[in-house]
Amino acid sequence: MQYRFSERMSTMKPSAIREILKNTTRGDVIPLAAGNPSPEAFPTTAIAEITADILTNNPIAALQYGISEGYAPLRAWLKRYLREEKGMGTDADELLILTGAQQGMELAAKALRDAGDVVICEDPSFIGSLNAFRSHGLRMVGVPVRDDGMDMDALEAALQREGRARFIYTIPNFQNPAGVTMSLEKRRKLYALALQYGVLILEDNPYGDLRYFGADIPTIKSLDSDGIVLYVGSFSKTISPGLRVGFLLLPAGALGPFTVAKQAVDVHTPVLNQMIVNEFVQRYGYAEHLARLREIYRRKLALALDCMETHLRGKLEYVAPEGGLFIYCKLPEGVSTPEFCARCIAGGVAVVPGTAFSAKEGEDSPYIRINFSTPTDAQLVRGIEILGSLL
Ligand SMILES: Cc1ncc(COP(=O)(O)O)c(C=O)c1O
Repeated sequence: MQYRFSERMSTMKPSAIREILKNTTRGDVIPLAAGNPSPEAFPTTAIAEITADILTNNPIAALQYGISEGYAPLRAWLKRYLREEKGMGTDADELLILTGAQQGMELAAKALRDAGDVVICEDPSFIGSLNAFRSHGLRMVGVPVRDDGMDMDALEAALQREGRARFIYTIPNFQNPAGVTMSLEKRRKLYALALQYGVLILEDNPYGDLRYFGADIPTIKSLDSDGIVLYVGSFSKTISPGLRVGFLLLPAGALGPFTVAKQAVDVHTPVLNQMIVNEFVQRYGYAEHLARLREIYRRKLALALDCMETHLRGKLEYVAPEGGLFIYCKLPEGVSTPEFCARCIAGGVAVVPGTAFSAKEGEDSPYIRINFSTPTDAQLVRGIEILGSLL
C-alpha cells in the first residue's frame, strides 16, 4: 500500500532530539541531549502510595470519563496556588488542565490561527512548540534572544512589519534551549508592545520553579490586567513528565473555545494522573518538594559548570544559567555543528545541534545544547571531558 500523507505533514520534521535520543538508548552513549528530570528527582515512593490509595478508595472516579476542563480539586488548588504564590490570575481568568504543556501550544495554534497568521517567537526556541505551530500552518517569525531575553527592538520591528501576527510565544525563564532569563524590564516592554499592537502573548514557563541562583522575576501573566496573556505551566519537569499533566491559565472568555479544541484532541487529561498530582501536592506540599528539587539541580548545575570550566574553557562560549536544565554553548568559528554532533555520538556523548531550535527551518547554527539533569554525575563529568577532547 502506497500511503499519501497530507501536505501539512511535509512541514513537520521528526524531532532532532528524539532522533538523537534513540542513540542514547544504546547504553554506551552519555545522554547530554535530553531534557528529562533526574531519576533521583522523582517522588516514586510517594506516587506509588498515592496511586494505591486512589485505586483502593476511589477507583471509579479515577477510571471513569472526566470533565474536559480538568479534575475540580486540582483546578481549585492550582488556581489558589498561582494567585497566592505567584500573583497570577484574576477573577477574569480560568484554568484548563492540559495533557502536558505541549498541548497548550497545540491548542493555542488550533484555537487562534487563521490562514496566513504568524507567530512571533524567540529564535532559537523549543522545537516541540515550533512543530505544533507549523503543523497548523502558522508562519514563524524569529526574534533573536540576548542574554536578558528577546531583543525588544527586533520584536517591535517584527510587530510593525507583520500585520498578521497572532501571538508572541515566549519562554521567559531559563529558556529552552538558550538557558537565558528575560529581565523584568523586558517583560514589561513585551507586555506593552503586545498591548499596543493588539497581539496576544503565549507565555510558556515549565522551568520557572527550577531557579537555583538569584531571585525570582514576576511572570508576564502577573502583569496581565488586560487579559492578553495565555500562561502555560507543567508538572513535567517538577513531578513527572510521564504523567502528562500541564495547565493553561487563560482569560475566562477563551476557556470555552480552548475546551472545545481540547475535546477534539483527547476529551480530557487522564483523571488518575490528575488525581495523583493533586494528592501529591496536598499530602507532601509542592513548595517543600520544589525545594528538594532545587537542591538536586543546583548541585548538578554547579558540577557541570565546574567541569566545563576545566575542560571547555576557551573552547566553547556560554552563559551560566541560573536555573532550568540546559546550557547553550557556541562552538568555535569554523566548526561545523552537524559534523561535531556526529563526532560526539561516535565519541560516546549525545548533544543537540542548535539547528534543531531554529525558527527558520534548516538554518545553520553554531550552537549545541547541553543538558545536566539526565546524566548521572559520573556521566556528566565524563561527557564534558569527551566534549573537551573532541574540541
Ligand atoms: C519550553 C518547553 N515547553 C513545553 C515543553 C513540553 O512540556 P510537557 O512535557 O509538559 O508537554 C517542554 C519540554 O521539554 C519545554 O522545554
